[in-house]
Amino acid sequence: MKLPETIVFATNNAHKLQEVREILGDRCRVLSLAEINCHDDIPETADTLEGNAMLKARWIKDHYGYDCFADDTGLEVDALGGAPGVKSARYAAENGGSGDHDSKANMCLLLKNMEGKTDRSARFRTVIAMICGEETYTFEGKVEGSITEVPRGSDGFGYDPVFLPSGESLTFAEMDGARKNSMSHRGRAVGALMEELD
Ligand code: IMP
Repeated sequence: MKLPETIVFATNNAHKLQEVREILGDRCRVLSLAEINCHDDIPETADTLEGNAMLKARWIKDHYGYDCFADDTGLEVDALGGAPGVKSARYAAENGGSGDHDSKANMCLLLKNMEGKTDRSARFRTVIAMICGEETYTFEGKVEGSITEVPRGSDGFGYDPVFLPSGESLTFAEMDGARKNSMSHRGRAVGALMEELD
């Protein structure tokens, strides 16, 4: 598989963009949605990470013509039957709280639902869907860990302050970006993508 010279990463999340640009380095130019002047509310209506990642990539390819990749990530907590999972971004919103992507509200609800649970095991799973020309690809990356009792650290984003990767003493929000990338779900999904490159 060959990466095109320019590819769109279907995100406006500055953290994700920086993570992926750091990993891909100068292998290809990665443009964000804002950089192609896309301000659409792209539907994420599938009930799987794979489905949502493909919906986003397909939207950009069909409406803007760019080769594109998109990611969808879920935090799967065993004691909660795999929740919030594919609904990670709107966990609090769907449970009577504030809007989508309110990380504080999402973490608060997660910690509340984890009160008294002894099994705190969880994993982040990312699926990347990529469309290059006529070809479509999906790549997956995951990282096992556990949910802390209280948030720790101020780097990163989303659920990072409450996620402790297995065998580590620092949460994702206490690590620098390079260390998080070296073991993270998204880092591994991009790694799987890079393994397929010619
Ligand atoms: P999405 O794939 O961007 O929709 O992410 C789903 C949810 O997971 C959002 O609430 C994100 O903030 C959160 N999330 C995605 N990636 C990460 C990560 O690397 N660390 C922590 N939270 C993340």
